[in-house]
Amino acid sequence: MIQTCLFPAAGYGTRFLPATKSLPKEMLPILTKPLIHYGVDEAREAGMNHMAFVTGRGKRALEDYFDTSYELEHQISGTDKENLLKDIRELMDNCRFSFTRQRSMNGLGDAINKGKVLVGDDPFGVVLADDLCINENGDGVMAQMLRVFEKYRCSIVAVMEVDKKDVSKYGIVEGREIDDGLMMVSDMVEKPKPEEAKSNLAIIGRYILTPNIFTCLDKTKAGKNGEIQITDALLKQAKEGIVIAYKFKGKRFDCGSLDGFVQATKYFYDRLKNGKK
Ligand code: G1P
Repeated sequence: MIQTCLFPAAGYGTRFLPATKSLPKEMLPILTKPLIHYGVDEAREAGMNHMAFVTGRGKRALEDYFDTSYELEHQISGTDKENLLKDIRELMDNCRFSFTRQRSMNGLGDAINKGKVLVGDDPFGVVLADDLCINENGDGVMAQMLRVFEKYRCSIVAVMEVDKKDVSKYGIVEGREIDDGLMMVSDMVEKPKPEEAKSNLAIIGRYILTPNIFTCLDKTKAGKNGEIQITDALLKQAKEGIVIAYKFKGKRFDCGSLDGFVQATKYFYDRLKNGKK
C-alpha cells in the first residue's frame, strides 16, 4: 500500500574511519551483504517497491550497487559465482531506485526534506540503514509498522526501551498507551540528557511518515547540534494531530557503532552456520 521507502544516506560515518573515507558507511558489509541491502530487503518485505535514496558527495557506490555491472557479470556468467548475485538481481528486477543529494550536512530532518522530490505526495517509509533490524519469528519491523499505519493512518515511529544512561543517543518519546505496544506520542525530544529524559523509550531508525511531515519540516528550525531534526518535526505533527510510537518485535543492531556492527556480524554468521540465510 505504501510504495516508497526513503533511505537517508548522506552521513559521513566518521566512527568507521578510515574505512569510510572512500566507502559509504551504508556499504559496509555484514557478512557479504552491505547494510543498505538489509534495509532494502526489509522495505521490500513490507511491499514497498520504490527505493529512494538521499545521498551526498562520495556516495556513488550506492548507485552502482543497484545497477548492472556488465564487466563483472560477463566475467562470472555461467559459473557458480553467478549464484552470489541472485538476491541483488531479484531486487533490481523488481524495484525502482531513485537518488537525490543533500549538499550539506544539516541533520536527518533536512535529509528527509530533501527526499520530497522523490517521495511525492504519499505516505512513505524511512529506513536508517545503520540500524539493522531482524525479526526471526515473523514480519520485519517495517511490515509490522505498516499494519499499524493501515489502522491509524498517521506517522509512526518504531521505539525500544534503552538504558537510561543511553538516552542521549536517541530521540526519546513520551506518551499514553492506546493498545498493546502502541503509544500516542505527547512529547519527543532529540537526544536529551539522562537527567532530563522523561522516559527511556528510544526511536530507532524506522519511520512511516505522512506527507504533511514536509510542511512540518519546512517550519522546523535548527535544533540539537544546530541541525534540522526529524524528531522536532514529528513533535509538531503530534501536537497538530496524531503520531504513534510502536514497540517493534525483533532485534536491532546499532551498526553505526563498532560494538553493534560486530554483534550483528556475529549474529548473522551464527545463523549462517546454522543453515539460515
Ligand atoms: C537519528 C535520529 C534519532 C534516532 C536515531 C536512531 O539519530 O535523529 O532521533 O533515535 O537516529 O538511530 P542519529 O543516530 O542519526 O544521530
